[in-house]
Amino acid sequence: MANPEPEKRMAELREMIAHHDELYYRQADPEISDRAYDELKQELADLETENPLLALMDSPTQKVGDDRSEGFQSYQHRERMMSLDNTYSGDEMREFIARLERELERTDLTFFVEPKIDGLAVSVTYERGKLVRAVTRGNGSDGDDITANARTIRDLPLELNADGEAPIPDVVEIRGEIFMTNEEFQRINAEREGQGLELYKNPRNLAAGTVKQLDASIVAQRKLEIVLYGRGYTEPVEALPQTQQQFFAWVKAWGLPTVKNHWAAESGDDVLAAIAELDELRHDLAYPTDGAVVKLDSIGLQRTVGATSKAPRWAMAYKFEAERAETLLKNITIQVGRTGALTPVAELEPVQLAGTTVSRATLHNRDEIARKDIRVGDTVLVEKAGEIIPAVVQVNLEKRKPECVPFEYPTACPVCGTDAIQLEGEVAVRCPNSECPVQVRRRVIHFASRACLDIEGLGEAMVNQLVDKDWVKRIPDLYYLKRDNLLSLGKNVGKSTDNLLAAIEASKTSELWRFIHGLGIPHVGAASSKDLARVFGSLRALADATMENYVKDKESVISGIGATMGEAITGFFAEGHNAQMIDDLLAVGVNPEAPNADGEGTQFAGQTFVLTGTLPSLTRNEAAEMIEAAGGKVSGSVSKKTTYVVAGESAGSKLAKAEKLGVEVIDEAALKDLLA
Ligand code: IVH
Repeated sequence: MANPEPEKRMAELREMIAHHDELYYRQADPEISDRAYDELKQELADLETENPLLALMDSPTQKVGDDRSEGFQSYQHRERMMSLDNTYSGDEMREFIARLERELERTDLTFFVEPKIDGLAVSVTYERGKLVRAVTRGNGSDGDDITANARTIRDLPLELNADGEAPIPDVVEIRGEIFMTNEEFQRINAEREGQGLELYKNPRNLAAGTVKQLDASIVAQRKLEIVLYGRGYTEPVEALPQTQQQFFAWVKAWGLPTVKNHWAAESGDDVLAAIAELDELRHDLAYPTDGAVVKLDSIGLQRTVGATSKAPRWAMAYKFEAERAETLLKNITIQVGRTGALTPVAELEPVQLAGTTVSRATLHNRDEIARKDIRVGDTVLVEKAGEIIPAVVQVNLEKRKPECVPFEYPTACPVCGTDAIQLEGEVAVRCPNSECPVQVRRRVIHFASRACLDIEGLGEAMVNQLVDKDWVKRIPDLYYLKRDNLLSLGKNVGKSTDNLLAAIEASKTSELWRFIHGLGIPHVGAASSKDLARVFGSLRALADATMENYVKDKESVISGIGATMGEAITGFFAEGHNAQMIDDLLAVGVNPEAPNADGEGTQFAGQTFVLTGTLPSLTRNEAAEMIEAAGGKVSGSVSKKTTYVVAGESAGSKLAKAEKLGVEVIDEAALKDLLA
């Protein structure tokens, strides 16, 4: 179906993809399935093909995601780490093979079929057989240096086995995947449950979160595992094997963990048979597997066919479907979120799916319902992938009854009756009434929750009472609660009331990032809140920030925080009631603990440092802690505002940028001198 407004839809798709990229790569906390995400990307790619003039150079279809996060040293891969093209269809897999046969003008090609491991891509470098570095994929060119964390992985040898069949190159980057078994995932979650901590969603998220822990001793307590399958930069070049199959044998001979199952295939039929076999046994494998990767076996021919800007043309992933089931859509209800977004929810005839009974599923937003023409009374296909919220993916039109009519989306908030609005460039329809009782309730629940201010005694039930009584209309009202009022909520509540008031009072000096997260700014999760706290240092500074603080010369100023988030934050504070909330919070004595406040030091106050390269004696964390303890800030990227760049061995692009901008570059010894 031709899209009447391709430009608008493309902008929407880019926005949605950026949002899901942030959740998947940076927060390790996705809200839609891989399949749903891949469909968004495919739709955007199709629109770009149909409307080449509207295709942006930096479209997400042209890039690999970005997993880099604040607190890690950035490291440039010697050879780029690419992404993979993927498909869910056997026919497309055959087409991939046919294309290579056509291009290479031969029909005797051999393919290597491997499991696709659902973890986190990593590149480990061995120099003269010794492990020197482990780096995440990052944006493909530069990743985060996670060497300290990777060293805690028991199966990853610090030295390659030189006694095997395989020659040891002078330098070799080997690509693989860090993952966690389901068993370990459950062990950790059981432990967290016992401690009353929030549970992780699935093994991939926990593995990703663990790899990005700044404290390697925490990493050592969780069992991360690794398998290696791919080659990167190799020196000398002659040290390269001829085929992927041979490379696999070498990786194994070097003593590195590899996957046990792989297949050589000589035709489309062979490839699809191998994929079917893998599908059968994947639930019993030691690692999470979400598909198969089919690679042209000959490394010489891989070179011949080359790569696009983001993926090799000699490899293709086949992804297994998430579980789906058909059921009856009994009704569509509208949920009001804490930002006022009206989210349509499918009320379903209960159905068994991926081990759970599903009776509700998200319908995402108004446009989705219209696009998929989902009607009450339809038979719909519901999908659930891992721990992701189930979603309605499609209508079975053959089963549509004539009495089913298109869904009429409400034009007013179902709770307070205010006319709903749709902001320019946003997909969500919103209730603009910031005092809408459901919004207030959800905002306060979020603010007090464990993930934010963690105020004991202020759970959902209590918040509901406070809102029902009209004592709390906005977050700052929490700090004006009256003991006498609270006592009227029940008999013998003196002690719990005093505890609650004490907990609320104590929250005034919680860490700054908890307040930032608690404000409920769209797109801003816990991880980004920590980045923001470190950079801005106070609620006032965050509220006063302009787009210039986020994006300069089209580049993001704060590593990992891009234009989307910058716009969300500045847009949030541009709303009068949100700006007022900050004034009111400060007026009641909220005084968050800034990330560098504990060190008392003020020696480096107002100074910003950027760390790059490997320092001779300090780890990146130690150096950052020392700087922050002295009142300085540590930032991930160099700008004119950077006071010093502290450079160590193999410093990369940041050093070059410092030199270009005329920022002073110092070494570890000079940093120590400044501190002394
Ligand atoms: S090959 C240059 N092989 O899947 C070729 N990738 O969706 C790209 N992955 O970024 C890598 N298992 O992190 C390859 N057996 C496998 C894989 C695999 C998992 C990951 C890898 C890649 C992502 C693309």
